Amino acid sequence: MSLFTKVDELRSEFKQALASSPALSDLEQIRQQYLGRKGVLNDLFKQIKDVEPSRKGEFGNLVNQLKQEIQDGVDTLSSKMVKGTEASSGLDVSLPGVHYQRGSLHPIEQTMRDMKRIFHRLGFAVAEGPEIETQWHNFDALNFPPEHPARDMQDTFFLNNGSVLRTHTSPVQIRLMLAEQPPIRSIMPGRVYRNEAIDAGHYCLFHQIEGLYVDENVTLGELKATLELFCREYFGADVKLRFRPSFFPFTEPSNEVDVTCFLCRGKGCRVCKQTGWLEIGGCGMVDPNVFRSVNYDSEKYTGYAFGMGVERIAMLKYGINDIRLFFENDVRFLKQF
Ligand code: DAH
Repeated sequence: MSLFTKVDELRSEFKQALASSPALSDLEQIRQQYLGRKGVLNDLFKQIKDVEPSRKGEFGNLVNQLKQEIQDGVDTLSSKMVKGTEASSGLDVSLPGVHYQRGSLHPIEQTMRDMKRIFHRLGFAVAEGPEIETQWHNFDALNFPPEHPARDMQDTFFLNNGSVLRTHTSPVQIRLMLAEQPPIRSIMPGRVYRNEAIDAGHYCLFHQIEGLYVDENVTLGELKATLELFCREYFGADVKLRFRPSFFPFTEPSNEVDVTCFLCRGKGCRVCKQTGWLEIGGCGMVDPNVFRSVNYDSEKYTGYAFGMGVERIAMLKYGINDIRLFFENDVRFLKQF
C-alpha cells in the first residue's frame, strides 16, 4: 500500500472513531492515538524519507492537512460534549463558585493548645478533673479554713446537694495526688466558675491552667525558671517576670507573677495602669498541709504549684479588652483568629 493511500485510510478510520460517539475520556485517548508523541501521525511524518523525492512536498502537505482535520475534529466534538453536559444539568461553569466559610479554633482553645504545647516540651503531662466538685476537694484539702471568704455564696456556685462548681483548677491537684505517687509533673487545664458581678474583666465562667510538680528536693528556683521559660516562649524572648509575695491557703510561700506589659514594654501605659506590669497568675511551694490531706510525706517531698487564667493570658497576648467577647460567639470576633 502506498503511503498516500495510507493517509486516506487513516482519515476514514479517524472519522469512524469520531462517529462512534466516544465518551470524553475515549476522545482524549483518540487524540493521543493520532496526535500524541508516539502517535500515528508522527509515524507517518517519519516515513517521509521513503517517499520519492519529487513527491515529498506533496506528501508532507497531505499529512499536515490530516493532522489539522484530526485536531479540529477532536476539539469540536469535545467542546460540544462539555456544553451538552452543562445544558442538561443546568450547570454554568462560568458562574463564580460558592464560597464556603471554614470554621476555626476558638481563641481560648487555641491559647490552651499553645500553652499545653510549651509545657509538654518542659516535661509536663496533662490531667483533668470534674467541673462539679466536692467542697472537700475545692477547699478543705487545699487548706482553706472553714470561714475563708472564698467559700462565700458571693464567689461560689453551690449545688443543692452541697457540691460546688469548682472555683479553680487547684482541686485537680488533690485528685492527681490521691491517684498517683511522686514524682508528679502535670498541668491541669479546664473551666472554672465564679459567682461574680460580670464586667469587662470578670465573667461567671473562665478557664485556668494549673501546674503541679512534686518530687524530692523541688525548689522555688525551679518554679521561677519554669514560669520564665514558659513566658519567654509564649510572649516573646524579651519579656521579663516579676514575683510578688502574696497569699494562697495551699502554697507557702505564695507569689503572684507579673510579666512586662506587652503594649508599652514596661514603660507604663493605659493597659498596665502605668505600672509596666501585668499579672498572669499565682504560684508557690505546696503547703505541707496539702500534702497531709493526700497522705504524702511532707518531710520527704516538696513541690511547686501555679495557676494561670487562660482568658487573661489570651487578652494580654491579643490585646482583647473585654472578657465577655470570648463567650458571646460573635463571628465578627471569632473570625479574627
Ligand atoms: N487557684 C488560684 C486561683 O484560682 C490560683 C493559684 C494560685 C493556683 C497559686 C496555684 C497556686 O496552683 O500555687 O486564684
